[in-house]
Amino acid sequence: MISFQNVTVRYPLGNIALDSVSFDIEDGEFVYLVGPSGAGKTSILRLLLNDIHLSEGSITVDDFEITSQKFKKVTELRQKIGIVFQDFKILPESNIYENIALSMLVKGFDKSQITKEIDDALRLTDIEDKKYLFPAQLSAGELQRVAIARAVVGDRSIILADEPTGNLDPKTTWEIMKIFKQLEKKKTIIFATHNTDIVNSMKRRVIVIKKGKLIKDKKKGGYEL
Ligand SMILES: Nc1ncnc2c1ncn2[C@@H]1O[C@H](COP(=O)(O)OP(=O)(O)OP(=O)(O)O)[C@@H](O)[C@H]1O
Ligand SMILES: [Mg+2]
Repeated sequence: MISFQNVTVRYPLGNIALDSVSFDIEDGEFVYLVGPSGAGKTSILRLLLNDIHLSEGSITVDDFEITSQKFKKVTELRQKIGIVFQDFKILPESNIYENIALSMLVKGFDKSQITKEIDDALRLTDIEDKKYLFPAQLSAGELQRVAIARAVVGDRSIILADEPTGNLDPKTTWEIMKIFKQLEKKKTIIFATHNTDIVNSMKRRVIVIKKGKLIKDKKKGGYEL
């Protein structure tokens, strides 16, 4: 479970990115995070990655409690989390297999486990035939599939997606959403997006953030700007 309790984030120059935000997300839930540009969506995701620190309040993720900059178990927490961002951050010099394998190698998984999980992830994302190609040989939609495959391998229970369809055309967007649908219930997914078509078609819980405040938390989904 992920729990935000009265989380406030002030950036050094005094910007309030989040203002006493509270919510709980159960294991296996799929939650949209929506709101205008600058609302604080990415800040919520970055807190979970410990890229930025909270000024007040507390965050718990399972047994981890992030209450201050002194949070020590950053590496262990990060190992639970897969990220899928708008820019794919795929290493250009490595092939697709190597890109996906990297985090598992770092975590010390053995070779047979790595091979098995990558094959499963490539099947899930339907890019088995791209395994030994290099990123420059793939389309934007295919690269986003690689990013999803990379996010799911290695025992990760949480997927953070930040506008993952932002660079994609509508058809590719729906193909990517189908993959997220298959991950539902197996992973906890927080999906930040501006795309109201997605939010209103594949209806799930919606958390609406505006100017750093949580203004709505709708269990049944749907959202209008
Ligand atoms: N590194 C930073 N230093 C200072 N202020 C920042 C920093 N990063 C973000 N902010 C501010 O925090 C607020 C929330 O930003 P955030 O990136 O979380 O918004 P967002 O909802 O993800 O927006 P978008 O939809 O455009 O991605 C904004 O006012 C932004 O200017
Ligand atoms: Mg953002």
